[in-house]
Amino acid sequence: MAEPSEKPARKPAQFSPRSIFLIALAAAAPSLAFAYTAGWLYPQKLTPGMIIDVLSRRGGDPIGHRRNHAKGICFTGHFEANGAGAALTTAPMFAAGSYPVTGRFAIAVGNPEAADSAGRVRSMAIRVLGPGGEEWRSAMNSSPVFAVSNAQGFYELTAAYDIDPATGKPDPQALQRYMAAHPESLPFFNWARTAPWTKTFADQTYSSLNAFVFVDPAGEKHPVRWAMQPTTAQEPVPLEDIAKLPPDFLEQDLKTRLASGPLRWHLVATLAQPGDPTNDATKVWPDERRHVDVGDLIVEAAEDEADGPCRDLNYDPLILPEGIKPSDDPLLPARSSVYAHSFDLRAAEAQHYSRLPEKKAEPTP
Ligand code: HEM
Repeated sequence: MAEPSEKPARKPAQFSPRSIFLIALAAAAPSLAFAYTAGWLYPQKLTPGMIIDVLSRRGGDPIGHRRNHAKGICFTGHFEANGAGAALTTAPMFAAGSYPVTGRFAIAVGNPEAADSAGRVRSMAIRVLGPGGEEWRSAMNSSPVFAVSNAQGFYELTAAYDIDPATGKPDPQALQRYMAAHPESLPFFNWARTAPWTKTFADQTYSSLNAFVFVDPAGEKHPVRWAMQPTTAQEPVPLEDIAKLPPDFLEQDLKTRLASGPLRWHLVATLAQPGDPTNDATKVWPDERRHVDVGDLIVEAAEDEADGPCRDLNYDPLILPEGIKPSDDPLLPARSSVYAHSFDLRAAEAQHYSRLPEKKAEPTP
């Protein structure tokens, strides 16, 4: 028999159909919100995964590699700030001094085994470490403008290079159709058609292309773009001669040059004037803008990517120190999310595939 002090047994709760619906909705809300932001509820919405898929379809075996700029080589060196940048930004690595750099040169291809002559766009990525754990990462290209102004344009342009199963090559008409629909891409294609080819990473100018905002010690904001300007003189080479070079000529040239001494670039910040577009990387700013040389990048040593210090770095353009903010350029958040997706994939793949080419085909159990 039950003790008199025992509480009466609780009746099972009674829920009306409406309250059951509301409870179910409340329970599902977080996953619905997640699915919405990931784009799964709206299949027509562009997602980082869709961009990664289209980038991964450009020939070769991208497993375990960056899904863009897939072929590269690591470097180490330092950034010597001359102090001129300290009036423009409070970023600690712009105060006069020397800061360690881990970087990567690459060509903008999807196939990590591509010949270097396939890379019309070359790139330099840097991570500069400042005091107090501050970091500045920047991934820069050798073209003076970008081909697209937003993620949708990037997706459509990359899809235009899809391999046609009938020919094993991209359909030339697809690129023509893309160009007809995207006049904003013409400055990039004009550069790609006319800019000189060279045999080295060392003589290229590498530009941020996206705009950023420097915040100075008084809190004033300065929209800027930046570029690494080489101190190595450029030697143009006809494209027919480039095509005859060994497939890894850029890497070999870099190692040869570094064996006889470091390579140097000036880091130059260009300040926007009111009205200069900060949200459109397909548009250059006029030449007469103020340029400030803020210091030198000194590249001292190169290391193969397979076991080099840049392999596990994601050069996300939104990893910025205090004193540098993103601009309103829509490419920046798109880049950040797609780079993270690419990084997650290649890091997970690396657990299943050896990075050594001769073992790459065998997944571990
Ligand atoms: C929506 C536009 C863009 C998308 C979707 C995109 C996509 C990617 C991806 C997936 C990677 C590989 C990331 C990794 O696994 O670490 C990458 C690397 C890179 N991207 Fe972009 N990109 C975009 C725009 C740009 C722009 C505007 C620049 C201009 C400078 C740029 C420069 C680079 C460079 C230099 C790298 C190589 C970084 C390294 O060496 O690790 N990208 N991009």
